[in-house]
Amino acid sequence: VAPPALRILVGFMGAGKSSLAARLDPAHFLDSDAEFVARRDTSIEAFFAEYGEAAFRAEEERIVLELLDRESGVLALGGGAVTTARVREALAGREVIWLDVPEDVAWRRVEGTGRPLARDREAFSELFALRRPLYEEVADVVLPDIGDPLEALRWAERRPPGSHMEWAAHGRYPVVAAAGLLTSGWWPLPGRVFAVSDETVGPLHAGDRSPRFDVPPGEGAKTLASAERVWAWLAESEATRADHVAAIGGGVVGDLAGFCAATYQRGLPVVQVPTTLVAQVDSALGGKTGVDLPAAKNYVGAYHQPAAVLVDHATIDTLPAAEVAAGWAEVVKTALIAGGGLWERVRTGADLDPQTVLACARVKLRVVDEDERDAGRRQVLNLGHTVAHAIETVTGYGRYRHGEAVALGLLAALRLSDRADLRDEVEGLLASRGLPVKLEGADPAAVVAATRRDKKRVGEGGVPFVLLHSPGDVRPGCAVEPGALRAAVEELAA
Ligand SMILES: NC(=O)c1ccc[n+]([C@@H]2O[C@H](COP(=O)([O-])OP(=O)(O)OC[C@H]3O[C@@H](n4cnc5c(N)ncnc54)[C@H](O)[C@@H]3O)[C@@H](O)[C@H]2O)c1
Repeated sequence: VAPPALRILVGFMGAGKSSLAARLDPAHFLDSDAEFVARRDTSIEAFFAEYGEAAFRAEEERIVLELLDRESGVLALGGGAVTTARVREALAGREVIWLDVPEDVAWRRVEGTGRPLARDREAFSELFALRRPLYEEVADVVLPDIGDPLEALRWAERRPPGSHMEWAAHGRYPVVAAAGLLTSGWWPLPGRVFAVSDETVGPLHAGDRSPRFDVPPGEGAKTLASAERVWAWLAESEATRADHVAAIGGGVVGDLAGFCAATYQRGLPVVQVPTTLVAQVDSALGGKTGVDLPAAKNYVGAYHQPAAVLVDHATIDTLPAAEVAAGWAEVVKTALIAGGGLWERVRTGADLDPQTVLACARVKLRVVDEDERDAGRRQVLNLGHTVAHAIETVTGYGRYRHGEAVALGLLAALRLSDRADLRDEVEGLLASRGLPVKLEGADPAAVVAATRRDKKRVGEGGVPFVLLHSPGDVRPGCAVEPGALRAAVEELAA
């Protein structure tokens, strides 16, 4: 049996790298900061004070490159080690695990410890933002700040070589990603797989998976009648609770098959295999499943977290351009919610790459980690969605793709947020991808009226809106004047 490869832990100060390393390999773990102290026989603070940061980084680089020669064990890197290009290059092809700690948690842990880079809150915050993209660049496995990462690390060991893994703390499931994952033969769960797909995606990406049930493509299949057909097929095929469902397709298949899995025999596991951009950055994550009623979208459903999510980047190659564009609207939405480096990357209009897809997925996972059942924080994910859902309802789910409606909804939300500058910038970004920025085929008054059926509305009050103060600063539960809403929707139709 080959010894496990060297596992390298990276992350900001206060992420808990050293303590995790010590836990994983108490006898032999390595820590580049501790190694520095032992070799120079001085504290890092004292060295910093005497020789400055550049001298420290040079020495740290030498030590890290040497420690990376080890074949096995666990190595915790100092928070700044990834700032040198040679270290990042040396990490390529290695097993790098990023402990992705929230900034405020990191600060609480290091405040007052005397660390040279943790004395000033503002400088700490700037450094955090600067380093995040570097961890993101080198990481193969991304772990949120959870007390016990051992289950996640077991999944990391089991994932196919060369793949990337994110961890959803809320449902304790992995998101495994790689181009070609679906044809690699790897599958996350034991037991029989009952694949649900649609008539377009099934033949393209489900391979020879059998048994398989294909629904017609498109939102029209997200109904109770379709769910009944899937339930009946599961029963006829004698699916049991030892088996599981695989939802191979876009958000429609994911929502429908997830709902069927949640309810058939009171619940089978579901593996989500998102094949659209919308599904990879959004709908396959977080466990919301369901179907539409004629009255409104997503009106019947259940929370059912996936057992695993498999993202095969290669599936996007067959996705029609208009569907890629629809996904782009969700990417822009996610970047506005996250702010920081993701917004800076997305606003350049750069082509989509797997890193951006995974960064968006990570934003969604973290938001859901905080609020699985949509009690508060999770509502930020609905930025632009109140008007989007109303547009879809009024146009009978036929005229606009969900992502296209989100594009329009985002513009309305930015107007309501009083961010004309940002609205213009986002309009340019959306239009450059061929997304609609004008509402057609719907009466604005009917759209406004339809927002009142939004599920966020409770009792007789108005619908609470998600508004944006600035990228990264999104506020749920905002009251909006009826006149302002009317004006924002009328502007779309003007
Ligand atoms: N559960 C959630 O949290 C959540 C979040 C966002 C959206 N949604 C739901 O997701 C749905 C929209 O999802 P969607 O945009 O993925 O739409 P979709 O599932 O209808 O897919 C769009 C079209 O692309 C085709 N397609 C899918 N993958 C393909 C591929 N790789 N190659 C070629 N064709 C492919 C499909 O057959 C379909 O015609 C809506 O019903 C929305 O309500 C759910």
